[in-house]
Amino acid sequence: MRASILALPLLATLMMTACKSEQAAPAAPAAAPAAAAAPQRVDEHSYAEPQKVVVSDLALDLDLDFDSKTLAGTATLSLDWKDKTATELRLDTRDLTIEKAEGDDGKGGWVPLKFRLAGIDPILGAKLTVETPNRNAKVRVTYRTSPKASGLQWMEPSMTEGKQLPFMFSQSQQIHARSWVPLQDTPSVRYTYSARIKSRPEVMVLMSADNDPNAARDGDYTFRMPQKIPSYLMAIAAGDLKFQFISDRSGVWAEPAMLDRAVKEFADTEKMIVTAEGLYGRYRWDRYDMLVLPPSFPYGGMENPRLTFLTPTVIVGDKSLVSLIAHELAHSWSGNLVTFSSAKDAWLNEGFTSYVENRIVEALYGRDQADMENVIERNELKKEFAEIDPKLQVLATAPGVLADPDNSSSATVYTKGAWLLHFLEERFGREKFDAFLRGYFDHFAFQSIDSEQFAKYAKANLLDKYPNIVSQGEFEEWLYKPGIPANAPHVQARRFGVVDSARLAWLGSRQLPPRVITDAWISQEWVHFIESLPDTMTLEQLAQLDAAYNFSGTLNGEIAQRWYPLAINNGYTQANDAIAAFLKRVGRRKLIVPTYQALVKTEAGLTLAKQVFEEAKPAYHPITTGTVQEIIAKAQPAPSPVAQPAMPPDADAAAAPAAGSAG
Ligand code: BES
Ligand code: ZN
Repeated sequence: MRASILALPLLATLMMTACKSEQAAPAAPAAAPAAAAAPQRVDEHSYAEPQKVVVSDLALDLDLDFDSKTLAGTATLSLDWKDKTATELRLDTRDLTIEKAEGDDGKGGWVPLKFRLAGIDPILGAKLTVETPNRNAKVRVTYRTSPKASGLQWMEPSMTEGKQLPFMFSQSQQIHARSWVPLQDTPSVRYTYSARIKSRPEVMVLMSADNDPNAARDGDYTFRMPQKIPSYLMAIAAGDLKFQFISDRSGVWAEPAMLDRAVKEFADTEKMIVTAEGLYGRYRWDRYDMLVLPPSFPYGGMENPRLTFLTPTVIVGDKSLVSLIAHELAHSWSGNLVTFSSAKDAWLNEGFTSYVENRIVEALYGRDQADMENVIERNELKKEFAEIDPKLQVLATAPGVLADPDNSSSATVYTKGAWLLHFLEERFGREKFDAFLRGYFDHFAFQSIDSEQFAKYAKANLLDKYPNIVSQGEFEEWLYKPGIPANAPHVQARRFGVVDSARLAWLGSRQLPPRVITDAWISQEWVHFIESLPDTMTLEQLAQLDAAYNFSGTLNGEIAQRWYPLAINNGYTQANDAIAAFLKRVGRRKLIVPTYQALVKTEAGLTLAKQVFEEAKPAYHPITTGTVQEIIAKAQPAPSPVAQPAMPPDADAAAAPAAGSAG
């Protein structure tokens, strides 16, 4: 169940950066933005010059202030100068106010450094150049964030579960770390970090670091991340957070009212860690804790090291959506340990992780569930391929193809990437392929690599090592060609056979399947049932299903995200109240986007979408707000039949919701 995030926003970034501030840089003439310098950059989405200098450690000292919705203080960067003639340090920023830059004088003191902030690029933000003629070992930047920082969400107490304390959290991937820390915001650079964060004493602060489950709440917190990580894994959250252990090394942080349910749902986490370790070697990050965020969290999960961030929408009571945990945990190997060096190789993170996720699901919940998840994902991939540019159907994307790296999160990256590994597994056999993958994680541990490096390693350690099993040509077709190669292994889900029979029988006879069957269905079976219904259905059919299964109003986001578009497309307006409630309750982008997209297809739907969005917006994350704004702005609604009585009858019929024509 992957997001077709690719179909999403560019405008998101534009909106977020539109309201750029008066910058406090003293000598800051707005320089020409991005374009000219772009080709030479190591990572097209960063102004950093890691070939000249790399940040090896970051020390933050920040005040986290809920009233002004800002983080303010200093970032001290330890520098490893590669180029002994370099005179500048270039950093990424977005909407940061830079107050001062200083360099260490080698004797324990600080001297002021000149700096300038360039003009704003709508996607990349503003390049910060610090003049460092002496190539200081450390540079300290004093800065504050904007209340609109694209990587942070600040929430009023009313927007939380407990309603007593405010809440804030970060989402740094893909290039939003620069909106809360001035840094080299490219995954090709890895560094250790430490932080001291001061906040209100009632509030607990956590980071993607060594959170102490027993830490006292006192408003003064210190953190250390002793392993080198890329910037997109920097994370912070603060709120009324309590902890409960799942095992010695794993547990859940959540608002008190959520904690018990979350711990029950995620009870298998230790087993997942043990399974992954059995396949790919020791878990190298010490603790694996999870943080349950408010429903406005724009993603399903985010693999922040030692502290996975999670949407509460996967807590459905029967563990049927915990493949999300398997996924974020799998990133502890694929992504956090071995990292893509730029977003154009996103599949090295997400494709590998989706493959590992499926292996964990199979080991814990059986082949049937793993197969069902695979089938759902591959159906989505086929749909995406029907819509997207062939250039984006390639795993190793060419430079310049991805304008906004937030849009790299497509089914291609996740599902085609995982499919390649499944193909290799099938050809070489599990024994050889598992050993290969384990060796790959060890070989590139704590490094950032690109698709070429993977291809070279795979050639030496798989293709050439066991000759005549997969040819170089077959392998390269997967990496560099659009679409899915003809030699791809196929999966069938046994349990979907039952779902298909039930659906067909009902469509033919109006006879719903016996309760004993549907009572045992888990999320994936319901998803498949709804997804394979005809596009055109009668109001009676929809009402019969709704009465039997309470789809409208479901708390299961995977069901909701598929049912509501079907209801809307068929003019089943009885669901409108439930739709409005869903869009106001949930801010997870992938779940609500299909419903907004369906609504904006008609005038009446667009009116509802606008109205709901106005009410929901205060609780949405900037990333989600940008996406929904774009959908509404780009809407080209077909005239609503009622509002357009003058339309000729056949055009009217074509535009009308297709109620009446049975599927
Ligand atoms: N790392 C991603 C989230 C991400 C990707 C954020 C790209 C920003 C840019 C995370 O691991 C992820 O893949 N989340 C998925 C869940 C998963 C089960 C497919 C999501 O949020 O839907
Ligand atoms: Zn992922």
